[in-house]
Amino acid sequence: MSPPAAPAPSLDLREDVQRELVLATRRYWAGPLYRRVVAGARRVGPVSGPDELERALARMPAYQAFGWLEQHLQTFKYTGPGGLMPAAERQRQVIEAMLAASEGRHPERLVLDPAMRLPDYYRDTDFHLVPGGIHSRSWDGVVYEWAAGTATMMQNESTDVHDSLARYLATVTPGRRILDVGCGFGPTVRALARALPEATVTGCDLSAPVLRLAHHRALAEALTLRFVQANGEDLGPFPDRSVDLVTATMFIHELPPPALRAMLRAARRVLRPGGRLVVLDFYLVPGGTLGRFFHLGHARRNGEPFMPALLELDLPAELRAAGFSAPQISPYPPGQPLDRLPESWRLPWTLIEAEALGGSDAA
Ligand SMILES: C[S@@+](CC[C@H](N)C(=O)[O-])C[C@H]1O[C@@H](n2cnc3c(N)ncnc32)[C@H](O)[C@@H]1O
Repeated sequence: MSPPAAPAPSLDLREDVQRELVLATRRYWAGPLYRRVVAGARRVGPVSGPDELERALARMPAYQAFGWLEQHLQTFKYTGPGGLMPAAERQRQVIEAMLAASEGRHPERLVLDPAMRLPDYYRDTDFHLVPGGIHSRSWDGVVYEWAAGTATMMQNESTDVHDSLARYLATVTPGRRILDVGCGFGPTVRALARALPEATVTGCDLSAPVLRLAHHRALAEALTLRFVQANGEDLGPFPDRSVDLVTATMFIHELPPPALRAMLRAARRVLRPGGRLVVLDFYLVPGGTLGRFFHLGHARRNGEPFMPALLELDLPAELRAAGFSAPQISPYPPGQPLDRLPESWRLPWTLIEAEALGGSDAA
């Protein structure tokens, strides 16, 4: 059955102009401007770590411009003239009608929990500098999806990584039952459903608005997916040993270490012995001190308060403590060099994989 015609929100000329400006400036920022900062940093000579480099470059005009643009382009994207927040708010009724129409179809595939208690770190942090976060307004999912189009230099880069990961997972998954934690508006679950048509794929997230959009997008693509509002720290709605593969993309860097430990234990609980955990996130940083300097600066300037703590964790030890074996941690896409900086700045993806221990040793 074809979906009923539902209105869709759109960006108009103002937002298109703003998007062009953000993308063009980001290309300049991540390319020529970044390379000027790299050249300046290399002239500083040996330093004890990123903090000393930060102090040495603090008054360098190219670095000041780099830091200013990194932070303010992001703010401008959401709230400046032609910003995504006012564009979505203006179309609030269209968005609500679109989401409600999809909720009316296959309501059993969208399980929301109106009593969900958001953890303080989640409620109180404007991740990625989105004013008010992405969990309270009906249009938050739409803003997040639009923003994802300008999060990376190439408009399609962020969705390409989900597709390439899903193609890889299709070759290694130990079974058909897949749970994606922190699924957002659903790019990973949709890619998994396309790559593994036989699989039963569920996405969970804390945010009701992003899950409502994920459900809408899945129906629009005629994919059979289930979305459940749940906290990744306990995965409460999911029974023990009910899943073969747990995935999480761009999720764990948003968790403070205690929440990450809880999430690993919860993933272990829902996995069957021998099941697999596959996480794509930001952990291995190429380029030594200089690479960490850019990475930590990004975390500070882009609303990522828990990203630095993730770098400090001994993830193989954390995985073992949570009941996993054979941890494997490598740059993604495979073969990315760790000993040198990329030519243009970008967040470096890391693939983290482990197997759920079996038998009575399981948590
Ligand atoms: C950066 S987004 C990534 C979304 C998606 N996985 C992707 O690859 O585009 C992180 C997502 O994790 C969700 N999230 C953050 N903390 C969570 C938690 N404790 N439990 C469940 N979801 C959480 C956020 O609401 C957000 O949708």
